[in-house]
Amino acid sequence: MKILRTVDELRRWSRAARSTPGSIIGLVPTMGALHAGHASLVRAARVACTHVAVSLFVNPTQFGPHEDYARYPRSFDADCSLAASGGADVLFAPPVEELYPNGPASTFVEVPGLGDRLDGASRPGHFRGVATVVAKLLLAAEPDRAFFGQKDAAQSAVLRRMVADLRLATEIVVCPIVRDSDGLAISSRNAYLSPVQRAQALTLSRAIRRVESLVAEGERRAEALIAAAREIFAAEPQIRIDFLALVDWSTLLPVETAAPGTLFAVAAFVGSTRLIDNTILN
Ligand code: PAF
Repeated sequence: MKILRTVDELRRWSRAARSTPGSIIGLVPTMGALHAGHASLVRAARVACTHVAVSLFVNPTQFGPHEDYARYPRSFDADCSLAASGGADVLFAPPVEELYPNGPASTFVEVPGLGDRLDGASRPGHFRGVATVVAKLLLAAEPDRAFFGQKDAAQSAVLRRMVADLRLATEIVVCPIVRDSDGLAISSRNAYLSPVQRAQALTLSRAIRRVESLVAEGERRAEALIAAAREIFAAEPQIRIDFLALVDWSTLLPVETAAPGTLFAVAAFVGSTRLIDNTILN
C-alpha cells in the first residue's frame, strides 16, 4: 500500500486507475483512529471496486471551538496496518495545509436545510466542515463510489444531497453499523470512556433496540417511540440526551409516523463524550 501526501499524487493515482479498462474506483474517507467499523468499509470497498483509496485526515473545520480536535485519537501506524490488511491500494494522508491551502479563508460547501438538522443543530458548522472536506476528497480522487458508515446517518444524508446538488459522479454507499458484542456501536470516541462510562453508554443501543422492538410489535407513532426511548435513558441519569429523533432519512425532517426507511437517531453525552447511534426502521 502506497502512502500519498498531496492532492496531485491522489489525482495522478486516480487518473492512472481510471485508464485501466473496467476500473471502479472506491474511496473510504476517514479521520483515522481506524477500528472494526472502518475495516468493514475498506472490505466493502475492496469487494465492490477494482481500486481502493483510504483517506486519513482529521478535518479541523468539522470540529467546534470547544470540541476534541486537539485530542482526537491519532494512531497513524496502526491505521496503515488496518488499511493495508483490508486491501487498500493507497492511503491518502495529507497535512492540513494541503487540503486548506488558504487556511480558514477557504471556500466552503454548505448543504442548507440538512446541514443544520440533528447533529448539525447541536454542532453548528459541523456538516459544513464535513461537506467541504468530502467535496475536496471527491474532486481529487473522482471515485465511482465512496463508503461511509450508517452510524453517521445524518452525515450520509448531507453528503448524498451534496453529491446530487453538485452533480458529482460518485455514489455514496452506506454500510451497516458495526457493534461490539454487547451492542455498543463502535466509534473512535469510545476510547474516551472510562469502564463505568462504557457500561453507561450501552443505554444508546438499548434505546435503539427498544424502539425497534416496539415497531416490530406495530407501534408507529413518533411520540410513543421517542417516549419509550426516553424512558430507557431515565434509568441512567448520568447520561445527558442531546436528541432523540424520528426523521425522514433523506430530508432529516421529523415524521409523526414511522415508515420503512425512517431514521431513529440518538445523540447523548456520557461525561463529556458525545456518542451517537441510530437505526433505519423496516
Ligand atoms: O465520518 C468521518 O469520519 C468524517 O466525518 C469524514 C467523512 C471522514 C470527513 O472528515
